[in-house]
Amino acid sequence: MKNIFKKIKFYFFFNTLSISTNLLYKIHFFLSNLNFLFKKNFFTNYFLNDINFLNEINFLNKNLYCLLKNVYTTPNKEEIISEISSCYQNDKNLLRKSSSAKDSYSTTILDPSKIKPNILNKIIPIKVINFLKNYFNSNVKIYSMHIYRTTPDVNYINPSFLWHFDNVPFYSVKCMILLTDTDSTNGAMKIMSGKISKKAISNKFYDRYLHSTVIDENISKFNYEYASGSAGDAFFFHNGRCLHKAINPLLKSRTVIVIDFVPSFCKIDDNKILEYSHFYNAGIYVNPFTNKKQETLI
Ligand SMILES: [Fe+2]
Repeated sequence: MKNIFKKIKFYFFFNTLSISTNLLYKIHFFLSNLNFLFKKNFFTNYFLNDINFLNEINFLNKNLYCLLKNVYTTPNKEEIISEISSCYQNDKNLLRKSSSAKDSYSTTILDPSKIKPNILNKIIPIKVINFLKNYFNSNVKIYSMHIYRTTPDVNYINPSFLWHFDNVPFYSVKCMILLTDTDSTNGAMKIMSGKISKKAISNKFYDRYLHSTVIDENISKFNYEYASGSAGDAFFFHNGRCLHKAINPLLKSRTVIVIDFVPSFCKIDDNKILEYSHFYNAGIYVNPFTNKKQETLI
């Protein structure tokens, strides 16, 4: 019975979140668009006309993922990468450690409060925010953010290694800012083509453990790409609608800043994005108007 209900919810919303959460997000997005259009038309200083994003926006619309090159200015990029890698030298700076224990993780999460404040203030690139504003025609807000490193660990198994959609609202976009050059050898994620992802949605793929019944392995084998890029690039994908899966790094580690965005009528600088508590949040806002959190990571 529960599964039938999940299936019905997936049919309407592409996720299994509560009906009220989904409706609140739809209303929230509608109001965000209205608010944005109003401000764009009546306040001439209301930023953005970066037509250079056109290709990436079209690609994201069509394929549900895209790569944006060089999101930091050169001095910022070097400062951020070097500060984060020096923080990683000390285990005391980690929120979650890797260990050889049975329940170990191959993913370590950095405690952002250990990063120098002047560097922390620069880690969310304005180029990323402007890109998303153009894409959504709305302001955006952050509901989750982590800085993590994956290291080679052949024994590590995780449900994320199965093809899946994240259980997030329709409009959610995940942005992974690469701090190391990333490809298939150091854990670049696998991203399915938009066409197959859309097919999986129409086949009501609401549970990753049912993947073999919904996704034809022979098709999926030839229709994915790696979320690869150079340090300083950002990879975006609609994590609720684009099939993806994590892979273990084979040769070297990969460090990324992962930020989850949703469209919002709050301006991002009103959001106090660097408040410490925001970094702990691993779940969506169940109510986008009040920012009531779903769950915390640590
Ligand atoms: Fe995921």
